[in-house]
Amino acid sequence: MNQPTLPIIAVDGPAASGKGTLARRLATHFDFAYLDTGKLYRAVGLKVVRTGGDPEDEEAAEAAARALDTTELDDPALSGDDAASAASKVAAIDGVRQALLEFQRSFAAMPPEGKKGAVLDGRDIGTVICPEATAKLFVTADVETRADRRHKELLNRGETSIYPRVLEDLKARDARDMNRASAPLKPAADATVLDTTAMDVEQAFAEALKIVGGKVQEALDVLAEDSGDPELF
Ligand code: C5P
Repeated sequence: MNQPTLPIIAVDGPAASGKGTLARRLATHFDFAYLDTGKLYRAVGLKVVRTGGDPEDEEAAEAAARALDTTELDDPALSGDDAASAASKVAAIDGVRQALLEFQRSFAAMPPEGKKGAVLDGRDIGTVICPEATAKLFVTADVETRADRRHKELLNRGETSIYPRVLEDLKARDARDMNRASAPLKPAADATVLDTTAMDVEQAFAEALKIVGGKVQEALDVLAEDSGDPELF
């Protein structure tokens, strides 16, 4: 029997736009598997830096990406700004993106734990990784709002944070992500842009659900029909 096509929700957007929180909540809501693809690039960037390498060194970065082990994705240091900055450098290297492509596509096509769908968040999920995704969101917010959220998040975690520096880091990361030649950050032609500047987490989730809910349910209904068991999905 052919592998059924499971629903995929693609959530893309710039750093600190709230896409991670949203993607995680959508995954919980639909009981889908969730993949934070930024972690892959963070793990590669951190690995290069930790071994004394330069994240802009194409060979070193690609080798690190090819050798990436999923157990490295649990490292708490991945959430730090050093990992983020190194990530956006290795992410501009085509060989790194190619090395991480299959893992992401397989996760989406065959989600772990027998889940009936997947939510992936990143920068190029709707454009490159899963262009056939069931539903696509492009989550964004003004850069000052994103910097403010990130700054508060760092302070809440007990870390030192200086707002102007956070703002500059985000602007530099946005520029690198949007201007790179390989899979630049941009909404897919068929993505719905969700601007969360004036929304809190609950409002953003409610809006996201309005956008993707119908399409996802339709895909689940088709799956149930194809399997001949309406109770299955
Ligand atoms: O989403 P997060 O902030 O964790 O991503 C870290 C960096 O990894 C981004 O700034 C971006 O350069 C890169 N990235 C990417 N493509 C993805 C996910 C992340 O280029 N799908």
